[in-house]
Amino acid sequence: MSCRTVGTIADLRRHLARARGENQEIGLVPTMGAMHRGHAALIERARDECGVVAVSLFVNPTQFDRKDDFDRYARGLPADHALCDELGADFLFAPSVEEMYPRPGCVHVDPGKLADHLCGAFRPGHFRGVATVVAKLFHIVQPSRAYFGRKDGQQLAIIERMVADLDIPVGIVPVDTVREPSGLALSSRNERLSPEGRRSAAVLYRALCAARDSLERGSLAAVEALAAAQPILGAEPGVKVEYFEIVDRADLQPVAAIEGPVMIAIAAWVDGTRLIDNVTYG
Ligand code: PAJ
Repeated sequence: MSCRTVGTIADLRRHLARARGENQEIGLVPTMGAMHRGHAALIERARDECGVVAVSLFVNPTQFDRKDDFDRYARGLPADHALCDELGADFLFAPSVEEMYPRPGCVHVDPGKLADHLCGAFRPGHFRGVATVVAKLFHIVQPSRAYFGRKDGQQLAIIERMVADLDIPVGIVPVDTVREPSGLALSSRNERLSPEGRRSAAVLYRALCAARDSLERGSLAAVEALAAAQPILGAEPGVKVEYFEIVDRADLQPVAAIEGPVMIAIAAWVDGTRLIDNVTYG
Protein backbone atom coordinates (compact mmCIF):
# COMPACT_ATOMS: atom_id res chain seq x y z
CA MET A 1 0.00 0.00 0.00
CA SER A 2 1.38 3.42 -0.82
CA CYS A 3 1.84 6.17 1.74
CA ARG A 4 -1.29 8.23 2.20
CA THR A 5 -1.06 11.96 2.79
CA VAL A 6 -3.56 13.17 5.38
CA GLY A 7 -4.18 16.85 6.09
CA THR A 8 -6.62 16.89 8.97
CA ILE A 9 -6.61 15.61 12.54
CA ALA A 10 -10.06 14.07 12.13
CA ASP A 11 -9.04 12.09 9.02
CA LEU A 12 -5.86 10.84 10.61
CA ARG A 13 -7.69 9.74 13.74
CA ARG A 14 -10.22 7.90 11.61
CA HIS A 15 -7.51 5.99 9.73
CA LEU A 16 -5.57 5.19 12.89
CA ALA A 17 -8.66 4.04 14.79
CA ARG A 18 -8.94 1.22 12.29
CA ALA A 19 -5.33 0.16 12.85
CA ARG A 20 -5.72 0.40 16.61
CA GLY A 21 -8.82 -1.80 16.38
CA GLU A 22 -6.65 -4.43 14.69
CA ASN A 23 -4.22 -4.17 17.62
CA GLN A 24 -1.41 -2.83 15.50
CA GLU A 25 1.40 -0.88 17.15
CA ILE A 26 1.50 2.67 15.87
CA GLY A 27 4.89 4.33 15.40
CA LEU A 28 5.18 8.11 15.03
CA VAL A 29 8.09 9.94 13.41
CA PRO A 30 7.66 13.71 13.94
CA THR A 31 9.49 15.85 11.34
CA MET A 32 9.48 19.29 9.79
CA GLY A 33 10.11 17.81 6.34
CA ALA A 34 12.98 18.55 3.94
CA MET A 35 13.77 14.94 4.69
CA HIS A 36 17.21 13.41 4.37
CA ARG A 37 18.91 10.18 5.41
CA GLY A 38 18.68 11.20 9.08
CA HIS A 39 14.90 11.27 8.88
CA ALA A 40 15.01 8.08 6.80
CA ALA A 41 16.85 6.27 9.61
CA LEU A 42 13.98 7.12 11.99
CA ILE A 43 11.33 5.99 9.53
CA GLU A 44 13.20 2.73 8.80
CA ARG A 45 13.48 1.97 12.50
CA ALA A 46 9.76 2.66 12.97
CA ARG A 47 8.97 0.45 9.97
CA ASP A 48 10.98 -2.40 11.55
CA GLU A 49 9.25 -2.11 14.90
CA CYS A 50 5.63 -1.05 14.27
CA GLY A 51 2.62 -2.35 12.34
CA VAL A 52 1.61 1.16 11.29
CA VAL A 53 4.00 4.05 10.67
CA ALA A 54 2.82 7.65 10.69
CA VAL A 55 5.29 10.39 9.74
CA SER A 56 4.27 13.95 10.57
CA LEU A 57 5.44 16.88 8.49
CA PHE A 58 4.73 20.20 10.08
CA VAL A 59 6.99 23.24 10.04
CA ASN A 60 5.91 24.36 13.48
CA PRO A 61 5.84 28.18 13.66
CA THR A 62 5.83 28.30 17.47
CA GLN A 63 9.32 26.82 17.76
CA PHE A 64 11.01 29.36 15.49
CA ASP A 65 12.49 32.26 17.42
CA ARG A 66 13.36 34.07 14.17
CA LYS A 67 10.81 34.68 11.42
CA ASP A 68 13.48 34.61 8.67
CA ASP A 69 14.47 31.08 9.76
CA PHE A 70 10.82 29.98 9.54
CA ASP A 71 10.38 31.64 6.14
CA ARG A 72 13.63 30.15 4.78
CA TYR A 73 12.93 26.65 6.11
CA ALA A 74 13.03 24.24 3.14
CA ARG A 75 9.62 22.90 2.12
CA GLY A 76 9.03 20.18 -0.47
CA LEU A 77 6.04 17.97 0.17
CA PRO A 78 6.30 15.92 -3.07
CA ALA A 79 9.89 14.81 -2.38
CA ASP A 80 9.07 14.09 1.27
CA HIS A 81 6.05 12.06 0.25
CA ALA A 82 8.13 10.10 -2.27
CA LEU A 83 10.67 9.25 0.44
CA CYS A 84 7.98 8.17 2.92
CA ASP A 85 6.44 6.03 0.20
CA GLU A 86 9.76 4.43 -0.67
CA LEU A 87 10.46 3.65 2.99
CA GLY A 88 7.04 2.08 3.46
CA ALA A 89 5.45 4.61 5.83
CA ASP A 90 1.66 4.27 5.94
CA PHE A 91 0.63 7.87 6.62
CA LEU A 92 2.18 11.26 6.04
CA PHE A 93 0.34 13.68 8.31
CA ALA A 94 0.89 17.13 6.80
CA PRO A 95 -1.52 19.55 8.48
CA SER A 96 -1.77 23.28 7.80
CA VAL A 97 -0.90 25.83 10.48
CA GLU A 98 -4.64 26.57 10.85
CA GLU A 99 -5.36 22.87 11.43
CA MET A 100 -2.79 22.62 14.21
CA TYR A 101 -3.43 26.07 15.70
CA PRO A 102 -7.05 27.08 14.97
CA ARG A 103 -6.67 29.69 17.71
CA PRO A 104 -3.60 31.16 19.40
CA GLY A 105 -2.39 28.65 21.98
CA CYS A 106 -2.96 29.54 25.61
CA VAL A 107 -1.82 26.40 27.48
CA HIS A 108 1.74 25.23 26.78
CA VAL A 109 4.25 22.61 27.88
CA ASP A 110 7.04 24.38 29.77
CA PRO A 111 10.32 22.43 29.80
CA GLY A 112 11.58 24.41 32.81
CA LYS A 113 15.30 24.31 33.55
CA LEU A 114 15.88 21.78 30.75
CA ALA A 115 15.66 24.74 28.37
CA ASP A 116 17.97 27.04 30.37
CA HIS A 117 21.21 26.02 28.66
CA LEU A 118 22.55 25.01 25.23
CA CYS A 119 20.10 25.95 22.45
CA GLY A 120 17.45 26.97 24.97
CA ALA A 121 19.62 29.87 26.16
CA PHE A 122 19.93 31.24 22.62
CA ARG A 123 16.47 30.44 21.25
CA PRO A 124 13.90 31.82 23.71
CA GLY A 125 10.65 29.88 23.61
CA HIS A 126 11.99 27.30 21.14
CA PHE A 127 11.68 24.24 23.39
CA ARG A 128 8.32 25.33 24.75
CA GLY A 129 7.16 25.33 21.12
CA VAL A 130 8.74 21.94 20.47
CA ALA A 131 7.39 20.29 23.63
CA THR A 132 3.91 21.69 23.03
CA VAL A 133 3.68 20.58 19.39
CA VAL A 134 5.09 17.14 20.19
CA ALA A 135 2.54 16.75 23.02
CA LYS A 136 -0.18 17.70 20.51
CA LEU A 137 1.14 15.15 18.01
CA PHE A 138 1.21 12.47 20.73
CA HIS A 139 -2.43 13.20 21.52
CA ILE A 140 -3.44 13.26 17.88
CA VAL A 141 -1.65 10.03 16.88
CA GLN A 142 -1.52 8.21 20.25
CA PRO A 143 1.48 6.18 19.13
CA SER A 144 2.93 3.35 21.18
CA ARG A 145 6.41 4.44 20.11
CA ALA A 146 7.83 7.69 18.81
CA TYR A 147 11.21 8.12 17.14
CA PHE A 148 13.64 10.99 17.75
CA GLY A 149 17.18 11.60 16.56
CA ARG A 150 20.11 11.90 18.98
CA LYS A 151 21.30 14.74 16.72
CA ASP A 152 18.91 17.05 18.60
CA GLY A 153 20.10 15.95 22.02
CA GLN A 154 18.43 18.67 24.08
CA GLN A 155 15.14 18.10 22.28
CA LEU A 156 15.37 14.35 22.92
CA ALA A 157 16.09 14.84 26.64
CA ILE A 158 13.16 17.27 26.95
CA ILE A 159 10.74 14.89 25.21
CA GLU A 160 11.90 11.98 27.37
CA ARG A 161 11.34 14.03 30.51
CA MET A 162 7.98 15.39 29.28
CA VAL A 163 6.71 11.85 28.73
CA ALA A 164 7.94 10.77 32.17
CA ASP A 165 6.63 13.81 34.05
CA LEU A 166 3.24 13.93 32.30
CA ASP A 167 2.73 10.13 32.16
CA ILE A 168 2.23 10.13 28.42
CA PRO A 169 1.93 6.46 27.39
CA VAL A 170 4.48 6.40 24.58
CA GLY A 171 7.91 4.79 24.33
CA ILE A 172 10.57 7.22 23.12
CA VAL A 173 13.06 5.55 20.79
CA PRO A 174 16.34 7.46 20.28
CA VAL A 175 18.08 6.96 16.93
CA ASP A 176 21.81 7.59 16.34
CA THR A 177 22.93 10.61 14.34
CA VAL A 178 23.44 9.96 10.63
CA ARG A 179 26.57 11.71 9.34
CA GLU A 180 28.28 12.48 6.08
CA PRO A 181 31.65 10.74 5.58
CA SER A 182 33.28 13.98 6.78
CA GLY A 183 31.49 13.61 10.11
CA LEU A 184 29.06 16.48 9.42
CA ALA A 185 25.67 15.58 10.88
CA LEU A 186 22.97 15.56 8.23
CA SER A 187 20.57 18.47 8.62
CA SER A 188 17.95 20.17 6.47
CA ARG A 189 19.93 23.37 7.07
CA ASN A 190 23.10 21.97 5.41
CA GLU A 191 21.49 22.76 2.05
CA ARG A 192 22.10 26.44 2.77
CA LEU A 193 25.88 25.97 3.09
CA SER A 194 28.36 26.83 0.35
CA PRO A 195 30.72 23.98 -0.65
CA GLU A 196 33.42 25.69 1.43
CA GLY A 197 31.05 26.11 4.39
CA ARG A 198 30.11 22.47 4.21
CA ARG A 199 33.76 21.50 4.35
CA SER A 200 34.49 23.74 7.33
CA ALA A 201 31.31 22.64 9.15
CA ALA A 202 32.80 19.17 9.58
CA VAL A 203 34.99 20.75 12.28
CA LEU A 204 32.05 20.60 14.69
CA TYR A 205 32.16 16.83 14.91
CA ARG A 206 35.97 16.80 15.04
CA ALA A 207 35.85 19.19 18.00
CA LEU A 208 33.24 17.06 19.79
CA CYS A 209 35.34 13.94 19.25
CA ALA A 210 38.47 15.70 20.53
CA ALA A 211 36.63 16.70 23.73
CA ARG A 212 35.31 13.17 24.15
CA ASP A 213 38.79 11.69 23.52
CA SER A 214 40.11 13.92 26.26
CA LEU A 215 37.48 12.52 28.67
CA GLU A 216 38.33 9.01 27.55
CA ARG A 217 41.98 9.69 28.29
CA GLY A 218 40.97 10.51 31.84
CA SER A 219 40.30 14.27 32.02
CA LEU A 220 37.78 14.80 34.72
CA ALA A 221 37.36 18.54 34.30
CA ALA A 222 34.98 19.81 31.64
CA VAL A 223 37.18 22.86 30.96
CA GLU A 224 40.12 20.59 30.17
CA ALA A 225 38.12 18.53 27.69
CA LEU A 226 36.71 21.64 26.00
CA ALA A 227 40.18 23.21 25.86
CA ALA A 228 41.51 20.13 24.05
CA ALA A 229 39.18 20.96 21.15
CA GLN A 230 40.00 24.69 20.91
CA PRO A 231 42.92 24.39 18.45
CA ILE A 232 40.69 22.36 16.12
CA LEU A 233 37.93 24.98 16.18
CA GLY A 234 40.48 27.77 15.91
CA ALA A 235 41.70 26.39 12.59
CA GLU A 236 38.31 27.19 10.98
CA PRO A 237 37.77 30.95 11.37
CA GLY A 238 34.58 30.76 9.25
CA VAL A 239 32.91 28.72 12.01
CA LYS A 240 31.55 31.02 14.71
CA VAL A 241 30.90 29.00 17.85
CA GLU A 242 27.77 29.99 19.78
CA TYR A 243 28.20 27.48 22.61
CA PHE A 244 30.40 24.48 23.32
CA GLU A 245 29.44 22.88 26.62
CA ILE A 246 29.37 19.70 28.63
CA VAL A 247 26.09 19.05 30.43
CA ASP A 248 24.54 16.29 32.49
CA ARG A 249 22.68 14.05 30.05
CA ALA A 250 19.45 13.93 32.02
CA ASP A 251 18.96 17.39 33.49
CA LEU A 252 21.04 19.30 30.90
CA GLN A 253 22.83 21.42 33.50
CA PRO A 254 26.49 22.29 32.85
CA VAL A 255 28.92 20.14 34.81
CA ALA A 256 32.38 21.15 36.01
CA ALA A 257 33.56 17.61 36.76
CA ILE A 258 32.60 14.47 34.85
CA GLU A 259 30.87 12.14 37.29
CA GLY A 260 28.04 10.56 35.29
CA PRO A 261 26.71 10.37 31.73
CA VAL A 262 27.21 13.67 29.90
CA MET A 263 26.45 15.24 26.57
CA ILE A 264 29.09 17.37 24.84
CA ALA A 265 27.17 19.79 22.66
CA ILE A 266 28.05 22.52 20.20
CA ALA A 267 26.22 25.14 18.15
CA ALA A 268 27.95 27.27 15.55
CA TRP A 269 27.18 29.63 12.70
CA VAL A 270 28.56 28.80 9.26
CA ASP A 271 27.64 30.89 6.20
CA GLY A 272 24.90 32.58 8.26
CA THR A 273 23.34 29.22 9.10
CA ARG A 274 23.16 27.82 12.60
CA LEU A 275 24.26 24.20 13.01
CA ILE A 276 24.17 21.96 16.08
CA ASP A 277 25.72 18.64 16.99
CA ASN A 278 26.56 16.57 20.06
CA VAL A 279 28.14 13.36 21.29
CA THR A 280 27.63 11.55 24.57
CA TYR A 281 30.09 10.13 27.07
CA GLY A 282 29.65 7.79 30.01
P1 PAJ B 1 13.35 17.92 12.21
O1 PAJ B 1 14.48 18.88 12.35
O2 PAJ B 1 12.72 17.74 10.86
O3 PAJ B 1 13.85 16.52 12.71
C1 PAJ B 1 12.98 15.44 12.79
C2 PAJ B 1 13.68 14.30 13.51
O4 PAJ B 1 14.80 13.88 12.73
C3 PAJ B 1 14.23 14.73 14.88
O5 PAJ B 1 13.96 13.72 15.83
C4 PAJ B 1 15.71 14.87 14.61
O6 PAJ B 1 16.52 14.67 15.75
C5 PAJ B 1 15.93 13.80 13.57
N1 PAJ B 1 17.15 14.04 12.80
C6 PAJ B 1 17.51 15.17 12.13
N2 PAJ B 1 18.75 15.04 11.59
C7 PAJ B 1 19.18 13.80 11.93
C8 PAJ B 1 20.38 13.06 11.70
N3 PAJ B 1 21.39 13.59 10.99
N4 PAJ B 1 20.49 11.82 12.20
C9 PAJ B 1 19.46 11.28 12.93
N5 PAJ B 1 18.30 11.93 13.18
C10 PAJ B 1 18.17 13.16 12.71
O7 PAJ B 1 13.26 18.02 15.18
C11 PAJ B 1 12.29 18.48 14.55
O8 PAJ B 1 12.15 18.32 13.20
C12 PAJ B 1 11.16 19.22 15.23
O9 PAJ B 1 11.65 19.92 16.34
C13 PAJ B 1 9.98 18.30 15.68
C14 PAJ B 1 10.43 17.24 16.70
C15 PAJ B 1 9.36 17.63 14.45
C16 PAJ B 1 8.88 19.16 16.36
O10 PAJ B 1 8.43 20.15 15.51
